[in-house]
Amino acid sequence: MHCVRKVTDDIYWIGANDKRLHLFENIHPIEDGVSYNSYVLLDEKTVLLDAADWSVGKQFIENLEFVLNGRPLDYMIINHMEPDHCASMEEVLLRHPETKVISTAKAFKMMEQFGFCNLGETITVKEGDEMNFGKHTFTFISAPMVHWPEVMVTFDTTDGVLFSADAFGSFKSLDGKLFADEVDFDRDWIDEARRYYTNIVGKYGPQVMNLLKKAEGIDIKIICPLHGLVWRKGIGYFIDKHIKWATYEPEEKGVLIAYASMYGNTENAAQILAAKLCEKGVTNIRMYDVSKTHVSYLISDAFKYSHIALLSVTYTNDLYPPMEEFIRDMQRLSLQNRTFAIVENGTWAPQANKVMCKMIGEMKNMTLLNEKLSMLSSVKEDTYEALDALADTIAESLK
Ligand code: FEO
Repeated sequence: MHCVRKVTDDIYWIGANDKRLHLFENIHPIEDGVSYNSYVLLDEKTVLLDAADWSVGKQFIENLEFVLNGRPLDYMIINHMEPDHCASMEEVLLRHPETKVISTAKAFKMMEQFGFCNLGETITVKEGDEMNFGKHTFTFISAPMVHWPEVMVTFDTTDGVLFSADAFGSFKSLDGKLFADEVDFDRDWIDEARRYYTNIVGKYGPQVMNLLKKAEGIDIKIICPLHGLVWRKGIGYFIDKHIKWATYEPEEKGVLIAYASMYGNTENAAQILAAKLCEKGVTNIRMYDVSKTHVSYLISDAFKYSHIALLSVTYTNDLYPPMEEFIRDMQRLSLQNRTFAIVENGTWAPQANKVMCKMIGEMKNMTLLNEKLSMLSSVKEDTYEALDALADTIAESLK
């Protein structure tokens, strides 16, 4: 049975949710699933904006046919051709051979690469092109690398609706509530929105800023992304979050403590550091064991907090692999402008500090508060005092 929601008088959300999928892009855990958003404009012409993942194809097609109510589908706009949005486009075209597909030249090329063929009549658009469908005129705005190179976004100049592709998206499936003003966003959604942005689009901050600059010139009333909630109130709040993330500025002054511990001794050091920070008035702390926390959560909080304390054991004369993966991911996603503190542990030849120093040094605009805090196997009095002094240094730099 169909399950749709009205966005405006003429625009419907016809997406669907996947609560069964464990890993988004087969890499990021999504405990609360994900939504694949698709929209239909009913004007003098009918227009579908993006399709959906194959896993929700049946629901998506049922929704489409319900909304069309027997009308032909005149156009299908593909803003982003990644298969989580495009996999069911051929199914749409099999049912609606009358449909003309509108997209960028690069997207058509990539559709061919993926084997999305039999497209019928196509219309290639570029930055600034416009199309009128009756009451509504759409402008196409190129948005390369948000999140793939072929991406564009579509702006409905009539109602001020931005169909923003992956931009302004989020992990988490929808529980009937489509609009951000229908949920407690700060309580229930911000962490998954940040985790989605930072891990999926985080590397492309400059390209996101380019898109946001273009958006400054248009009067956006509603944002319709391809994943997550639709925004029709308080849009500035979410745009401000994206500006922070895209410019690699921390959202909060606080400390992410990530530790790699084999027998609990490095964890003990992390706990002591956290307790000392609290005693000195720094309570905005989040602590993770890198071995049991998926790196996507670490990345999300690395984008959130201003300070990052890394405590790691040495492993095979090198850095402990999950810690190395975390730092590599920060590098890969171009994280910048953070302040680090490091602690190493080793029983006969500690190496972790050296590797962490080098890796942090390879990133842009990173400050390292200490070159070395080394412990041998477990925390003794001297390490305890050194951790206290490190907490002083961190607290001071947070002022
Ligand atoms: Fe949700 Fe880049 O696809």
